[in-house]
Amino acid sequence: MPLGDDGLPDAELSEGREIYSSRCARCHGSSGGGGTGPKLADGAVVAAYPDIADQLEIISDGKNGMPSFAGSLSESQIEAVARYSREVLG
Ligand code: HEC
Repeated sequence: MPLGDDGLPDAELSEGREIYSSRCARCHGSSGGGGTGPKLADGAVVAAYPDIADQLEIISDGKNGMPSFAGSLSESQIEAVARYSREVLG
């Protein structure tokens, strides 16, 4: 289980990991290396979206080949997967 800043297991990050592997990995790669969608790992997503709010918006609303997840994920699920991509893949 991914650990939070305090070194304890972080439930939101593990939820994010599950969402990522079921909803995002097929386009962005299982470790975020990219594929149909751009690379998210190695700091790429944090560099593209220094403010997490802008990343949350693209996941909710979609953009070109990036599907919108507003109808299928709750706000807290979107936040969990965004944190996972920044803190674990990133
Ligand atoms: C059907 C393939 C597909 C799926 C599934 C998908 N994405 Fe994407 N994603 C894309 C594509 C293509 C883009 C590039 C959109 C553009 O800028 O034109 C993108 C862009 C992004 C970006 C912006 C990256 C950047 O550098 O601008 C983020 C963040 C992102 N996706 C996160 C996610 C997350 C989180 C999930 C799962 C909840 C997900 N994506 C699922 C295809 C996908």
